[in-house]
Amino acid sequence: MASPHNAANVGDIAERILLPGDPLRAKYIAETFLDSARRYTDIRNVYGFTGTYKGVPISVQATGMGIPSFSIYVQELLDVYKCKKLIRVGTCGGMSTAVKIRDVLIAQGATTDSSLIRQVFGGAVAFAPIADYELLSRAVANAKKLNLPVKVGNIITVDRFYNDYGDPNGIFGDGKRSLNEKLVQYGILAVEMETAALYVLAAGAGAQALAIFTVSDHLVTHEDTTPEERETSFNDMIKIALETAIED
Ligand code: HPA
Repeated sequence: MASPHNAANVGDIAERILLPGDPLRAKYIAETFLDSARRYTDIRNVYGFTGTYKGVPISVQATGMGIPSFSIYVQELLDVYKCKKLIRVGTCGGMSTAVKIRDVLIAQGATTDSSLIRQVFGGAVAFAPIADYELLSRAVANAKKLNLPVKVGNIITVDRFYNDYGDPNGIFGDGKRSLNEKLVQYGILAVEMETAALYVLAAGAGAQALAIFTVSDHLVTHEDTTPEERETSFNDMIKIALETAIED
């Protein structure tokens, strides 16, 4: 049986799964890091593959960008395919100056401007979307073992890539300071568009979830990066994610 947006049969997708946004990144991960990878879906060209890493079955499923697209794929992975360890591997925009372009970040928590939490809890509570502690602590240990520096902290999942949170005169600015500056004061390291949904949906299904990123752009410093540098930090992030996903 397939699900509405995934051609895989139940059993085709491993319990352990990496979640990049970009279908071509899914293909690159499968071809570069997995053994005997087989594509199980190409519906909408949103590819998914299953192979093995160090002998352990593992899948990689593209999700598209933003909470609405991401949530479709992840809800079906949880409900239909019974995925148990989900690790998003994506990019984020640096906000804090403590974060540099190409850094690898791990989202301990995912603050959000999305209505998702209100849709799930009806406005009664401000649920805190957090990483699974076991995956988080293992990822940090694996990064150390691989000699790859990582930063861990709170990030923000936004619904609009093009918002005015950087503008002191934007709707949430006070004329002197932008919302982004306030968020950085409160410890937000970076911005992306999916992780709060991953943490909420996985929690609801009793599954473990973690999000790891490379910093692809920086909202304050506007640092630049070469394609080769981006590829190196992307591969570092994938190694941390794979080593963490296969552990029991
Ligand atoms: N904003 C939102 N999402 C992102 C960004 C950004 O600057 N960079 C990578 N994902």
